[in-house]
Amino acid sequence: MELEGKVAVVTGSAKGIGKAIAELFARQGATVAIVDRAGAEDTARALRVEGLDAQGFGIDITDMEAVYSTVDTIVREWGHIDILVNNAGIIARGSLLDLDQRQWLRVMDVNVNGNFYFCKSVIPHMMRQKSGCILNISSIAGKMGDITASPVYGTSKGAINTLTKSLARQLAEHGIRVNGIAPHAIETDMSAEWSEEKRRAVVDAIPLKRMGKAEEVAEAALFLVSERASFITGEILNINGGYLMD
Ligand SMILES: NC(=O)c1ccc[n+]([C@@H]2O[C@H](COP(=O)([O-])OP(=O)(O)OC[C@H]3O[C@@H](n4cnc5c(N)ncnc54)[C@H](O)[C@@H]3O)[C@@H](O)[C@H]2O)c1
Repeated sequence: MELEGKVAVVTGSAKGIGKAIAELFARQGATVAIVDRAGAEDTARALRVEGLDAQGFGIDITDMEAVYSTVDTIVREWGHIDILVNNAGIIARGSLLDLDQRQWLRVMDVNVNGNFYFCKSVIPHMMRQKSGCILNISSIAGKMGDITASPVYGTSKGAINTLTKSLARQLAEHGIRVNGIAPHAIETDMSAEWSEEKRRAVVDAIPLKRMGKAEEVAEAALFLVSERASFITGEILNINGGYLMD
């Protein structure tokens, strides 16, 4: 098992990509904190029923105090945090002109600020232990701009890509690696709201001619936080069936 003895915090892991990552990490021996605004403890309980080690933390990641106290609790109970996966994210639809200030601020708050709160509270612990891995779940939209989503979504993911590279540069000397994943067209609730017409157009444009699975993102996440990726930092890995090759 690749993550035996490790403690992993995965945000937005009650469902979708985050849940697949949390499950795979737990199966690889990690103790996993399932952080989500809804359903965190239900998902953790289902993992415990399988004999895996997980606990739910029902918080909204935009609540800075709640993030800090969650991280404090995890370190107090489990002693350390080795892996942080900033996965929780939301999307907005429509053009910039359709977007009001409240929606703009909410997307930036969840996709950027929540990530910042977790990094800020976890990094001191990783620096003390001189090791750690941070993995930020970005999006293809952060690399090439939004195709059909609202421009605020790609803007928030572009910020995450830059944060990933900045932290990778600044934390390398402390033994901390920071990477990202830029998925596209993964079967989750986020893509379930697409019309049939949009889904056909998206799949048509993908060289592998299908949608991706959350479990396929989880496999890449496991690789990036494992010792197998020990010389990789500042990378933002495409998982998109070949749609964007950069
Ligand atoms: N599905 C895709 O095709 C796709 C493509 C590119 C990027 N992504 C990114 O992958 C990540 C996961 O997406 P998904 O498709 O699994 O989405 P999802 O909607 O299925 O799951 C997102 C999870 O995050 C949680 N969450 C959202 N806001 C939160 C908050 N403020 N506090 C705590 N938890 C919160 C939700 O409750 C949910 O459990 C997101 O960052 C998303 O932007 C997804």
